Formats: sequence, structure tokens, C-alpha cells
Amino acid sequence: MKRLIAPSILSADFNNLGNAIEMINQSEADYIHFDVMDGVFVPNISFGIPVIEHVNKIATKPLDVHLMIVEPDKFIEQFVKAGAAIITVHYEACVHLHRTVQIIKSYGAKASVCLNPHTPISLLEDIISDLDMVLLMSVNPGFGGQAFIENTYKKVKQLKALIKKKNTECLIEVDGGVNIETGKQLFDAGADVLVAGSFIFNSENPSDTIAKLKLV
Ligand code: DX5
Ligand code: ZN
Repeated sequence: MKRLIAPSILSADFNNLGNAIEMINQSEADYIHFDVMDGVFVPNISFGIPVIEHVNKIATKPLDVHLMIVEPDKFIEQFVKAGAAIITVHYEACVHLHRTVQIIKSYGAKASVCLNPHTPISLLEDIISDLDMVLLMSVNPGFGGQAFIENTYKKVKQLKALIKKKNTECLIEVDGGVNIETGKQLFDAGADVLVAGSFIFNSENPSDTIAKLKLV
């Protein structure tokens, strides 16, 4: 089990985004998490390719791009060229998920699939061996600062069991409502990567908060 932290810039101060990225660069964070929202797949619009392109010029950590969009196939090449190292698409948004995963890999990025809170782990049975990571939503996607959905712990354990059964190296990432308490239980349940937005950026010392999350 890895203990990786991926700060979500959704909760950063966009008037000083460069400062937030420099803080992440200097911190113990492992990835930078970007919540891309189209206002169709989720009831919110966040940011897109220009933000990834600009951040990529100064980022020293891999860009972990979470696509909460419909028809992600149309944008994979652009996001990889903008600097995405990991691309996460939603299971619920992909009619031909196997093909989408192959497209992500063909451009040289790591392929990750995200499950909404209601989507069972069992649906990954025949795609898990093709994945570098699975992202489990522990809130309903669209907004930062929401309450953690407790059923996620069970899903992490189920996913860990599937990964072991299939003997793959797939990572487990969890996103939404992550703090010291939920983070500890998630690592204990078998998660490898914790995404945190509001807990980090609303804290007195975000860099220190990242370091504390790594140690929970
Ligand atoms: C929801 C987003 C958020 C964000 C983290 O669509 O994916 O989960 O990354 O939000 P916090 O950590 O503020 O709950
Ligand atoms: Zn996210």
C-alpha cells in the first residue's frame, strides 16, 4: 500500500493559483489533482485545458486529471498534450470504456476509472486488469467541501480484494470529504492515494496539512 496525497486545486485561491502550485511543489504531495467539470455530467463547471497547460509550466508533480465530463474520448489527446500524467474518466460517462482506456494509454498517460458512490465495484471485473488506478468518489461529484460517504470504506476493501484476485498493480484513489479521520480509515482499508481539497486549502498551513495526511 502506498500513502500518496493529491491536493485538489478546486479549493485553491484562483487569484493566487501560482502560489498554490508552488506550495504543492515544495510540499510532500505526490500528485496535483484537477477536477474538470463540464456542467453536464455534473451540475457544476470548473476549469479546462488552459488551466492545465499553465500549471504544467510550473508544476513539479504529476498532473492527476479527473474528468467529470461527458464524451471524454473527445478531449483525451488535448489533456495529455496539456500535461496530464494520469487521466481519470467516469465509468458512468463511457459507453465504450475499454476503448477509452486504450486511447488514454495510446497517448502515454496512466489510465484511471472513477466510480460514483452508487456504482458497485463488481462492474470493474473485466476492466480492472487494464487500469493503472481506480478513483472512488466519497462524495457526489461536482463540489468540494461535502460530507464523506461512509459506505466508501466498504468499497475500498471490495476493490482491494478485486485487485488482489486479479493480481494487478492498480492503485486505489479516494476523492471527497478526506480529512485526518477519514484519511486514516481509508489508508487502513487499503487506499493508496487520498485526494483532498477543502481540508488542505482551508487549513492554516496547507503544506503542514499535507504532511499530516501522509502520516495518518
Ligand atoms: C468533487 C471533487 C472534490 C474535490 C475534493 O467532484 O472531486 O471531491 O476533488 O473535495 P473536498 O476534498 O473539498 O471534499
Ligand atoms: Zn476529483
